[in-house]
Amino acid sequence: MPISPRIHHDRLLGRLDTFNRIGALPGGGNCRLALSDEDRAGRDLLVRWMREAGLAVTIDAIGNIIGVRDGRDDGPAVMFGSHIDTVGTGGRYDGLYGVLAGLETCEALNDAGYATRRPLALVAFTNEEGSRFPPYAMGSLVYVGGLALDDAYSIRGIDGATVGEELQRIGYVGNARPGSITPHAYLELHIEQGPVLEDEALVIGAVEGITGLSWTEVTITGRAAHAGTTPMHLRRDAACAASEIALFVRRVAREMGGYQKGTVGRIELYPNLVNVVAERAVMTVDLRNTDEGLLREAERQLAGFLEGLAAQEHLSITTRSLARFEPISFPPEIVSLVETTARELGLSCRRLPSGAGHDAQMMARLCPAGMIFVPSVGGLSHNVREHTAPKHLEAGAAVLLHAVLRLSE
Ligand code: GLV
Ligand code: MN
Ligand code: MN
Repeated sequence: MPISPRIHHDRLLGRLDTFNRIGALPGGGNCRLALSDEDRAGRDLLVRWMREAGLAVTIDAIGNIIGVRDGRDDGPAVMFGSHIDTVGTGGRYDGLYGVLAGLETCEALNDAGYATRRPLALVAFTNEEGSRFPPYAMGSLVYVGGLALDDAYSIRGIDGATVGEELQRIGYVGNARPGSITPHAYLELHIEQGPVLEDEALVIGAVEGITGLSWTEVTITGRAAHAGTTPMHLRRDAACAASEIALFVRRVAREMGGYQKGTVGRIELYPNLVNVVAERAVMTVDLRNTDEGLLREAERQLAGFLEGLAAQEHLSITTRSLARFEPISFPPEIVSLVETTARELGLSCRRLPSGAGHDAQMMARLCPAGMIFVPSVGGLSHNVREHTAPKHLEAGAAVLLHAVLRLSE
């Protein structure tokens, strides 16, 4: 009598714990910036676990790791996974959870001796976070043909190294061509990273789509001057301009309301000294909206503000786009599949959009794609205190397992 596949709670939680020793930070979170030594250590462990689970592992030329489990038939695989890199002050679950729950899905099928009709493909995409090397979701973007490999290799990170050099250094330039598998469908399980599910005491989110996003690097050039002798009205102060821009970004997002977000996450000043008026500021602006028209409106307002500020403060202000993606909607049949699977498992569920970017957003260009969310305590993410209750981690993995089973038949 065949047993039905089940998520093994302790194995999933144990693997999350073991993996998270890599790049562990004081306070509980992790730093595995893309293509760092910690990212390499995580990759090595993942590849070992995938092989132990019987998956045939390939690495592609952008470093995406794919483990295939054969099906009864050939043909397009059902793909699932996420990423294992983190932001510099990341939590324990952003990305990693989706990958290790995917591995647990394969282990659960192994335990049950279950052969799916279609092959399965577990993936860990390179550099989803984009904190070190913009844009985010780089591995999946290359995978779907949205960014040429050579262009990706030449991207320079915030520490001066390039993607190509670092991928080579950590030994993860693989032989496979990115995009060599066109999946039957792609599913990504992820923590919500926001407060909605927790607020409503729900367990599963069926993700309807992903916000549009615009990342801009703004460079302000003024003039270095003596902090004690230069009259206030004669300064061309890049630090003050950067501050004005940060406040403007917040004001625009607040005034537009709805799903509009605006963030200045990075400001670097030169020469960054107590008694020198800043000559230069390099900063980033992250604008997001689920509505493309409104996102364009926010971008238009920012451009107008920068032009006026440059004239008023006698500064030069230049911009460079680091990432720009339109909002996307997942196909209704995949959203329904997530909902139905959750309900059949007796789990409460609602539909919601994602305000975070994800690899599923890129994969949606290639095949039907969708996402499953589980609650984040306090809505906290990109923070070392990011947390999801173990029972919710298990519930999300069960939804992934059963949704994969449906897609694979
Ligand atoms: C990427 O993960 C983002 O939403 O910033
Ligand atoms: Mn993520
Ligand atoms: Mn993230």
